[in-house]
Amino acid sequence: MCGIVGYVGHSDGRVNAGHNALDVVLEGLRRLEYRGYDSAGIAVVADGTISSRKKSGKLNNLISELEARPLPESLTGIGHTRWATHGGPTDQNAHPHLADGGKLALIHNGIIENFAELKQELLAKGVTFQSETDTEVAAALLGDIYRNQLGGDAAKGGLTRAMQLACQRLEGAFTLLAVHADQPDVVVAARRNSPLVVGLGEGENFLGSDVSGFIDYTRRAVELGQDQIVTITADAVDITDFYGAPAQGKEYEVNWDPASAEKGGFPSFMEKEIHDQPDAVLQTLLGRSDIHGKLTLDELRIDPQLLKTVDKIIVLACGTSAYAGQVAKYAIENWCRIPTEVELSHEFRYRDPIVDENTLIVSISQSGETMDTLMAVRYAKEQGAKTVSICNTNGSTIPRESDAVLYTHAGPEIAVASTKAFLAQITAAYLLGLYLAQLRGNKFQGEIKDILADLGKIPAKIQRILDNEAQIKELGQSMADAKSVLFLGRHVGFPVAMEGALKLKELAYIHAEGFAAGELKHGPIALIEEGQPVFVVVPSPRGRDSLHAKVVSNIQEVRARGAKTIVIAEEGDEAVKAYAEHVFYIPETPTLLAPLLATVPLQIFALALASAKGYDVDQPRNLAKSVTVE
Ligand code: AGP
Repeated sequence: MCGIVGYVGHSDGRVNAGHNALDVVLEGLRRLEYRGYDSAGIAVVADGTISSRKKSGKLNNLISELEARPLPESLTGIGHTRWATHGGPTDQNAHPHLADGGKLALIHNGIIENFAELKQELLAKGVTFQSETDTEVAAALLGDIYRNQLGGDAAKGGLTRAMQLACQRLEGAFTLLAVHADQPDVVVAARRNSPLVVGLGEGENFLGSDVSGFIDYTRRAVELGQDQIVTITADAVDITDFYGAPAQGKEYEVNWDPASAEKGGFPSFMEKEIHDQPDAVLQTLLGRSDIHGKLTLDELRIDPQLLKTVDKIIVLACGTSAYAGQVAKYAIENWCRIPTEVELSHEFRYRDPIVDENTLIVSISQSGETMDTLMAVRYAKEQGAKTVSICNTNGSTIPRESDAVLYTHAGPEIAVASTKAFLAQITAAYLLGLYLAQLRGNKFQGEIKDILADLGKIPAKIQRILDNEAQIKELGQSMADAKSVLFLGRHVGFPVAMEGALKLKELAYIHAEGFAAGELKHGPIALIEEGQPVFVVVPSPRGRDSLHAKVVSNIQEVRARGAKTIVIAEEGDEAVKAYAEHVFYIPETPTLLAPLLATVPLQIFALALASAKGYDVDQPRNLAKSVTVE
């Protein structure tokens, strides 16, 4: 989820004499900084060479570097703001990465799944690497093809042909932009499973990971399709597939203002991030299993032998992240048969917990800076436990202080209330559970492969819910005057109900409470009165029958007392209709994976209701994105 900008212009007196590439690229990076801000870099082509600068930290660090060590004037350049996936946020790991003796610069958004084998192949050819990134491997591959396979001969297609040949070797998700000193008026780019748009100017052309990258210069855009290569010069845009066959992009006029362009055209980051969720789950899954369904969590870096001796797992987290842990508990215990507790971080170390060297601590944190969770992890380490961090922010404190990390790849989550990070956390926790099951032999490879296949279908299922969001949105808008909403769920639906309640509290500032549906009759049912809105997350009727039947009877219990029942149920579940004022159907999926779908309507509902009240859904009152105090 990085920010990417490319530019080629010229100044031979034509209309819109070319701008200085540095200015255009920096302006674009500034607008794209929300997409990633743990490092930034830029490369320009001038005087027959590539000049580049890159710095970890915010874009301002790069700007300071450029003031101290200016780049030459140029009409061709590329720039990148990074949201780290492979390799921490350091100067070394920042993009661009150079190759071909410093004559080629490459920037990248995404995950090259087969970078390890490509790296071995290039090392065998004597290529050396400065960073730990998959991007540098892609740069070296491109440089090797350009120099050694094509002889650096523009007549053989030059950088464009080299990019086509390189992309035929790459697996995973990538947007690549490259420049070469031999071709000073060209930027070549490629995309697969990662966004890239072209900006069409007069005597100049642009590239961006989204239109924010060039919206200050042109509103004419061309969206590129899957597996396409684009070569831009000041006067031309040439699109092919990965094999050189001519291809077409989709031209359109950008009608967003710059501010809404940063939100992908959505009115808020919150809504954008809800719609980012299919990609957040996809990116978190990418590169973590092979075609045989074998999990390859190389970055986990905990001795597999130690993981085999684990006899207890304790999940440490707060808020939404704790609910992700609660969802994961059901799956991990089912797949690994390891007792798994979920503890609120701020409670954990004050209750004299039982922790030893056979305890695996799994902390879950979007920010990686939540002080409650950091202190709990430190405490557990003092007791001898091994610690794994599931985190969305590369290089943050909690993963740095953990024995191992499994990063979610949701991209920066700007809205304070967590949505896409929540689904990505659940996904990463599932991967960890499957990895443990694989290591300890609790599941056959075929079983794991089937579960991974079901997980692989989740992004499209989330998209289907988003495509049909109007109905739940309307309900949210119609309930702006609600004073209290209850949420019920059983089994994995219980933490979903808790998360649905938290979203409504955070965004709409109204009382909301999540319950285990079976708990209602032990007291809370006294809350039910005429018209009381009650959401019920219903498990699949194809699952454990008793569960479904019991939840349907819970719906009847509250309805009999006047509740306004709003049901989230699986497509085809007709049994719930008789007792529900509203039914929102979600696609069929195995029970343990259902939270990745059932949560989405609740997020949309909370957003719609809060928006109807006119509240700032990105920055709710009293809240901080990262709670760095205990
Ligand atoms: C989520 O909507 C909340 N903003 C909050 O509960 C958050 O999940 C919690 O503070 C934990 O933050 P972390 O994931 O960054 O550790």
